[in-house]
Amino acid sequence: MCFADGNPAAEVMLIGEAPGAHEDRQGKPFVGPSGKLLDRMLACIGLDRSKVYITNVIYWRPPGNRSPTAAEIAACQPFLERQIELLRPRLIVFVGSIAARALLGLTEGVTKLRGRDYRYQLADGSSLPALVMFHPAYLLRQPAQKRLAWRDLLAIRRKLDAG
Ligand code: URA
Repeated sequence: MCFADGNPAAEVMLIGEAPGAHEDRQGKPFVGPSGKLLDRMLACIGLDRSKVYITNVIYWRPPGNRSPTAAEIAACQPFLERQIELLRPRLIVFVGSIAARALLGLTEGVTKLRGRDYRYQLADGSSLPALVMFHPAYLLRQPAQKRLAWRDLLAIRRKLDAG
């Protein structure tokens, strides 16, 4: 099982998709090639794993690296919702479209979803600010999108600096 990494008291909670082979072996999210890119991206805005909390929409590696099914996402969702309630981060960052779709009920692809402000609704009626950023695995395949990814990072930094 691969549940979470980072600081539970952090202001930022990053929510990815699902563990890959490296994460499956180490039991920690984002430790493979896309995790290394994510760490470098976070470092650009002064963040590291002592300043963020990282988890995924599902906690087990889908066989053969397929996308998580709706049933797998639904099975893990109560744990994810409870983590958000307990941690109450100042900002939720959905890493890629699967996470944003699962928790915000959206249907578009990441290119449409990023660059906008969202509110994540909690069961008690309160809400938390949320953003969507490109998944680092996507950026490894589409490096030209790093230009827009930099804007996503600046948006995160701005939200945190705004207090
Ligand atoms: N991709 C994800 O979405 N999560 C991980 O933990 C690793 C790769």
